[in-house]
Amino acid sequence: MKVISILGSTGSIGRSTLSVVDLHPEKFKIFALSGFNNNDLLLEQAIKFKPSFIVTKNLFSKKILMDKLKDTKLKTEVLYGDEGYTFIASHEKVTTVVAAITGSAGLISTIEAAKNGKQILLANKESMVMAGELINKICVENNSTLIPVDSEHNAIFQVLSKNSDSEEIKKIILTASGGPFRFHSLKNLQKVTVEEALNHPNWKMGKKISIDSATMMNKGLEVIEASHLFRLGIKKIEVVMHPQSIIHSFVEYIDGSSLSQMGSPDMRVPIAYALGYPNRITSGVEGVLLDKLSSLEFYKPDLKKFRCLDLCYQALAMGDAHCISLNASNEIAVEAFLSGKINFIQIPELIEKMLLKTEVMNVNSVEHILELDNYARDETNKILNKTL
Ligand SMILES: NC(=O)c1ccc[n+]([C@@H]2O[C@H](COP(=O)([O-])OP(=O)(O)OC[C@H]3O[C@@H](n4cnc5c(N)ncnc54)[C@H](OP(=O)(O)O)[C@@H]3O)[C@@H](O)[C@H]2O)c1
Repeated sequence: MKVISILGSTGSIGRSTLSVVDLHPEKFKIFALSGFNNNDLLLEQAIKFKPSFIVTKNLFSKKILMDKLKDTKLKTEVLYGDEGYTFIASHEKVTTVVAAITGSAGLISTIEAAKNGKQILLANKESMVMAGELINKICVENNSTLIPVDSEHNAIFQVLSKNSDSEEIKKIILTASGGPFRFHSLKNLQKVTVEEALNHPNWKMGKKISIDSATMMNKGLEVIEASHLFRLGIKKIEVVMHPQSIIHSFVEYIDGSSLSQMGSPDMRVPIAYALGYPNRITSGVEGVLLDKLSSLEFYKPDLKKFRCLDLCYQALAMGDAHCISLNASNEIAVEAFLSGKINFIQIPELIEKMLLKTEVMNVNSVEHILELDNYARDETNKILNKTL
């Protein structure tokens, strides 16, 4: 039986994970759950799954949850803050950690899970963008395994032949729906609203990743994530637009074979694969109805329109410090867009200005990563304040 901590159980990935777990009570035991702001849902999840621990944002939220738990017969303990997240990621009883906190906030708990030899079901792509090589190294040293949950990386993980080395892989091709603005002109992007940007045509996701999908930053972050997960150079990672989101990426081998994985655009499919690995389990999702598909389209992304994707390739080429800067400035820019401070096309402008201020350097410790992340946040805020 896998004993699981879910970091970010109240989010979109966390909820989908629990719905798959719920189908297989004999295979999975929920040891701990975590949220941040959504205490009501965290409590609801605790009542249903009876974990030993739940973790929330701060002492105040802990008190609220403890009071509410008194009315139940549950023995669940409430923890809070960074100590709480790292405690449930590293506890000796836990075999499997689902890393589904959004953004850089997921970095430390993911690293803690790796240090403690856990099987990590990785949704939090930002931690790989910030610290991919370091996380790979910690995983090797501590016998920890990473199973990608992101649908594209999960697809590649599924079709990658176990004994093929990177010399046999000609390239991998990540598919991208193109988000809500795939048919917009560059000019029309200036006028898009927050509501339109959040309204992804194929996937239901959290706010940050929805905006990242609209700018195609999400695909760029996935390019960087893929370079670390599959240890491939930048020239071997391509992106193709595929509006239907049915094919979730390809691996092209040197013999001319291309292998891909298909599935409905529902995160329960890759989550079930990751949870069941190395076996397959039901996800609650129907297979693709081929006779109902009218067409599968593919075309090249327009990097002038989707500048964030281009910036990700440039950051990857420049190295670790630029990837950290890119991620931090993107988080600031997305928040600024969501709160109405900047318009949609100012997101890549802000990130580009921050990348220009970033120096090339080797980064090989968590402390250094956090220092560069803080620096990039401060500098991006300064650039933002000058813009307003
Ligand atoms: N959604 C998808 O389809 C999808 C697909 C592939 C990859 N991913 C990746 O999976 C991750 C999660 O995405 P999501 O869509 O599930 O996001 P989400 O719906 O926004 O959920 C984020 C989760 O993280 C918690 N959280 C937020 N800020 C936190 C903080 N500072 N400290 C601790 N916990 C915090 C949230 O708690 P509260 O809700 O209680 O505030 C929630 O549980 C992201 O890295 C995303 O890129 C998502």
